[in-house]
Amino acid sequence: MFQRDFPADFVWGAASASYQVEGAPFEDGKGASVWNEFDKRPGTMRDDVNGDVACDHYHRYPEDIALMHDIGMTGYRFSIAWSRIFPEGRGRFNQAGMDHYKRVCEELLKNGIAPYVTLYHWDLPLALQKDFGGWESRECVKYFGEYAARVAQELKGMVKNYFTTNEFLAASDVAYGMGLIAPGLKLPKKRVNQIRHHLLLAHGTALQAVHAADPAAKAGPAENSSFMVPVIDTPEHAAAAKKAFREENAHFLTAVMEGKYLDCYLEKEGSDAPDFTDEDMKIIGTPMDFTGLNIYFGKRVRSAPERPEGYAVFEEQEKHRATGIADFNFEPSSMYWGCRIVNELWHPKEIIISENGMRSLVDMPEADGQVYDDERIKVLRLDLTMLARAVRENIPVRGYFHWSLTDNLEWHHGFRPRFGLIYINYTTQQRIPKLSAQWFKELIRTGRIS
Ligand code: GCO
Repeated sequence: MFQRDFPADFVWGAASASYQVEGAPFEDGKGASVWNEFDKRPGTMRDDVNGDVACDHYHRYPEDIALMHDIGMTGYRFSIAWSRIFPEGRGRFNQAGMDHYKRVCEELLKNGIAPYVTLYHWDLPLALQKDFGGWESRECVKYFGEYAARVAQELKGMVKNYFTTNEFLAASDVAYGMGLIAPGLKLPKKRVNQIRHHLLLAHGTALQAVHAADPAAKAGPAENSSFMVPVIDTPEHAAAAKKAFREENAHFLTAVMEGKYLDCYLEKEGSDAPDFTDEDMKIIGTPMDFTGLNIYFGKRVRSAPERPEGYAVFEEQEKHRATGIADFNFEPSSMYWGCRIVNELWHPKEIIISENGMRSLVDMPEADGQVYDDERIKVLRLDLTMLARAVRENIPVRGYFHWSLTDNLEWHHGFRPRFGLIYINYTTQQRIPKLSAQWFKELIRTGRIS
């Protein structure tokens, strides 16, 4: 008998981020972000590309929204470039930048697609980096709160869901410790840990700001935790995976869920642990309306009574695809276990898969002009089958956003790794829905994994 794997009101969409798709770095009064400076520095970007045009989504959003509509999507997760709204990150408000996003929201709503807005997807206004050292400073947290409040006031009635911050780890360690993404700094551990803390504080501050500006709006993070999967589904391994998840994510998701740092984290960091106050932790622990999870990876865990922590995480060999993206820890069951463990530990009101997808292919049109990305379909089928198990077990998963709608600028990896359901020819800006877009359309239409 025909049975749905997902309920009819499940939100299906795709996700993107301003810097990765928009282009138009200085249009309509936009100020520079750290990326507009970083991507001009020699040696930072693969193939020496930059984000000045990217997918030209700033101008082509009506076409992209029409494509979403054709697939049947009911949600679109996109980020707002902070420096379009406040060109210096603070003080002077730029109406023209805000109006752009209002037009995007109107177009989405006209097409029956709910806008899901990410407030911070790594494109910090450059002025805040130059004047205050960016997230090293609490000033930045304060200004983020002001920006969040203004956006929520302006978009009231149109936007009902906000993601505060995208991926704490990249925004702190990868940007300020490893120097791989903007602003590209290699600061010592203690300072990076302080940046981690400030980003958590920014998340809590934005939650409060959004709620104050628009009590009807919901907000939560979009977080790529270290997802843990029991190596075998037995009670002792499942308990070990749950403990590992809580402890291995103590510096990010656990902190925002519990409003505290676990002793194991503080002890591990020792004198490098961040400075914080009780008041900070209250803000960090501000209750959320949903938990957004970016799930691509999972680590297998076993129960290990012989160890003090009681669990052991299997390490996997890192493999690289032709695109140059590390492709390791691919583990479809992290879709199920990620949701289940988060639900068991903290009982969030809702869980949203804020990102998932195949970690890139070198898609190319065939002679007939079509893009046959069968491997992406294989990965999505596996991942979504595991997500369906979570839905079946009544874990409150309410939506899924595929990363990404279109191919786009994969940060410092450049344009080679392709993540989209829709192919982009970067010379002509032509969009070609891939075979996976057709698969996704069927999934939405039937509510079934085929
Ligand atoms: C992230 C970001 C996206 C990436 C995507 C593919 O998860 O790193 O949110 O901007 O492009 O995940 O790597």
